[in-house]
Amino acid sequence: MEKFLDVISDEMKRAFLAAGYDGGLGKVTPSNRPDLCEYQCNGAMAGAKQYKKAPIMIAQDVVKALEGSAVFSEVSAVNPGFLNLKLQEGFVKEYLARMGKEEKFGLEKPERPKKIMIDYGGPNVAKPLHVGHLRSAIIGESVKRIARYVGHEVIGDIHLGDWGLQMGLIITELQERRPELVYFDGDFEGEYPEEAPFTIAQLEEIYPTASGKSKSDAAYKEKAMDATFKLQSGVRGYRALWKHIMEVSLADLKRNYHNLNVEFDLWKGESDVHDLIPAMVEEMKKGGHAYISEGALVVDVKEETDTKEIPPCMILKSDGASLYNTTDLATIKDRMENIGPDEIIYVVDKRQELYFEQVFRCARKTGLVRPETGLKFLGFGTMNGKDGKPFKTREGGVMRLSSLIEEINEEMYRKIMSQESRSMPEEEAKETAKVVALSALKYGDLSNQASKDYIFDIDRFTSSEGDTGPYILYTIARIKSILAKYKEMGGRLSDAALQPADSGAEKDLMLELAGFNAMMEGAYEEAAPHKVCAYIYGLANAFNHFYHETKILTEENQVKRDGWIALLVMTRDVLETCIDVLGFSAPERM
Ligand code: ARG
Repeated sequence: MEKFLDVISDEMKRAFLAAGYDGGLGKVTPSNRPDLCEYQCNGAMAGAKQYKKAPIMIAQDVVKALEGSAVFSEVSAVNPGFLNLKLQEGFVKEYLARMGKEEKFGLEKPERPKKIMIDYGGPNVAKPLHVGHLRSAIIGESVKRIARYVGHEVIGDIHLGDWGLQMGLIITELQERRPELVYFDGDFEGEYPEEAPFTIAQLEEIYPTASGKSKSDAAYKEKAMDATFKLQSGVRGYRALWKHIMEVSLADLKRNYHNLNVEFDLWKGESDVHDLIPAMVEEMKKGGHAYISEGALVVDVKEETDTKEIPPCMILKSDGASLYNTTDLATIKDRMENIGPDEIIYVVDKRQELYFEQVFRCARKTGLVRPETGLKFLGFGTMNGKDGKPFKTREGGVMRLSSLIEEINEEMYRKIMSQESRSMPEEEAKETAKVVALSALKYGDLSNQASKDYIFDIDRFTSSEGDTGPYILYTIARIKSILAKYKEMGGRLSDAALQPADSGAEKDLMLELAGFNAMMEGAYEEAAPHKVCAYIYGLANAFNHFYHETKILTEENQVKRDGWIALLVMTRDVLETCIDVLGFSAPERM
């Protein structure tokens, strides 16, 4: 259905036309003086030159043309020529009632749904997940859900880092510790054991140890690189170990992402495209794009209009080894051939922006994608500690995701248990704390524009007041508790019908709701979950203001009371839809 602001603008356009002016001047925008009016139109100012007339005169003509309007209750021409507007309560109510009947509150289906792939998460197998991966998971999940809600086909791919040096390091360290393992016996021809020779806890210790050693011991690093090479060229025992590393590590990753309410459609990794590389390289050479420079195979990607130097994209190192680039390009090839997306969105640390620019240009130049395929880099900033530096543990190490989640769960639990009015048994409080803590974590991240750095402030994020996830959830819980009482009193939610607003606070709440569909469309177009956060913060504020001013359940006039109940139902549904696309949920009570 038509967006609220468009319906209002249409009415204004008609008035400009009726008064003998260009209809295009009738664009209505939200008021920047909410103390004076709800909406405004600056068309008379814009038309002054064209009609060689004082703007205030044009504005006055328009005011006349709007007499008896079913949309505006107040239209005033204000010097030097602004039009200040207020809406008819009945018109607002009608719009909301129609929204309520439509699927997705009147959000229009896309004319041509797109197939969109989102490359996010990007964890490295066998390395612990750290907070750097957290932002990718949280933002990517939300961008995916928003696009899906709007009506596109969306496929999320985790793109595992599962083929690099870390594998060689683990294999090397394992060989140092347990050279007798059958995987290292080159003559062994039998079946390898089914069970991995290590647990996840051991794996998590092996990797950092090996990585540390390789930094101070050149021979050790040499061995690890050799092991990586052998693994990639298919040495049986190494492949078998790799499978074990994958199994053990993936089980752990799945648990972690599940706890974050993050679900991937594809669990593909760098290793999956390894075999596509030789043919891709051949094509690039044949197409005349790839050439040898200082021993390495490269593709030039600079363009005339560049204002800064964009280095060539390196496809193969001089020893023939492939790189991070090579796998990303081969992944694009794989995606185009097997899935054929209209667009691929990469949710990655913004420090990789130049790198992706090279990859995208190379993919276009060498024909890996169609000219109309969208390749979009959605770079995010760093999550910093209160000192403004990248987030660290108290001891100064890299914070692991699981510790961070534990910390925020505990803080939330402490806050819930310290509430004076707490009536919740301990077990329920624990579960509730987890649900609310996830909202604190995700909202704290998503409410910032993704590209910006932000400060992880556990105390602020878990607060039930202010622009936070818990504040939104408290608002939802409050609405649910009123609705539950209404039912206990014998009320039926299905009987409740919206009524025209009775107070300023009620009207403000209705106007917030009316903006839902336009907001969601904007959040999709700009891949901007922070717009959803800003919207629900405004909506929750409007609701709480209304709630504090209105005695809902004790209202004697039944029609009025039921009207408010209908408004509450809609507010709850819109809020829950929004938190769902942000990737968290609300407990029944708090
Ligand atoms: N594994 C990479 C890292 O930890 C992130 C992967 C990003 N996605 C991609 N297609 N390159 O930095």
